Amino acid sequence: MNVLEAIRRRRSVRSYTGESIPEEDLEVLLKAARSAPSAKNLQPWKFIVITNKKTLQDLVSLCHNQGFVADSGAFIVGLTEDEKWSRIDLAIALDHLSLAAAQLDLGTCWIGAFKPDSFRSYFNVPPEYEITICMTVGYPSERGESPVKKSLEELVCWESYK
Ligand SMILES: Cc1cc2nc3c(=O)[nH]c(=O)nc-3n(C[C@H](O)[C@H](O)[C@H](O)COP(=O)(O)O)c2cc1C
Repeated sequence: MNVLEAIRRRRSVRSYTGESIPEEDLEVLLKAARSAPSAKNLQPWKFIVITNKKTLQDLVSLCHNQGFVADSGAFIVGLTEDEKWSRIDLAIALDHLSLAAAQLDLGTCWIGAFKPDSFRSYFNVPPEYEITICMTVGYPSERGESPVKKSLEELVCWESYK
């Protein structure tokens, strides 16, 4: 699968089989994230990877009762340092991860609806890190329809803003 195929294939998956992801596949995904560009190559991120089933279950209530979190194979908590571009850097890194996951037939879903204070105490995150965004990864149990995307005509101006 090439990059364009992975981009086309990726979509948010909110239904997982609960199967565990082999450690070597998780490593492939984390290496994809690690290889992402970042401003000044600061790599101002950290990833907490959760695969423990009991912890995944606990995370449901910390993610505003998004039940599918419990059935994911891994839940990744994205942390950022206090740097100008760190949130963008982290988003690029996790997007790399999501495309690598698509290539491995794994589904992902960004998780922005979570309780940061509860996460901080549950995972002992030190104050110098912001808990910025999370992502589920897992084997899809169903593939929904592709959501509608805006047309290029709506999104793109050529040469100047009309
Ligand atoms: C920053 C961010 C936060 C998101 N948070 C959630 C979330 O908490 N729960 C969820 O089910 N989807 C979440 N999503 C997924 C979006 O709903 C999804 O990307 C969007 O509907 C487009 O669908 P697609 O990813 O299949 O293209 C989030 C996406 C982004 C980029």
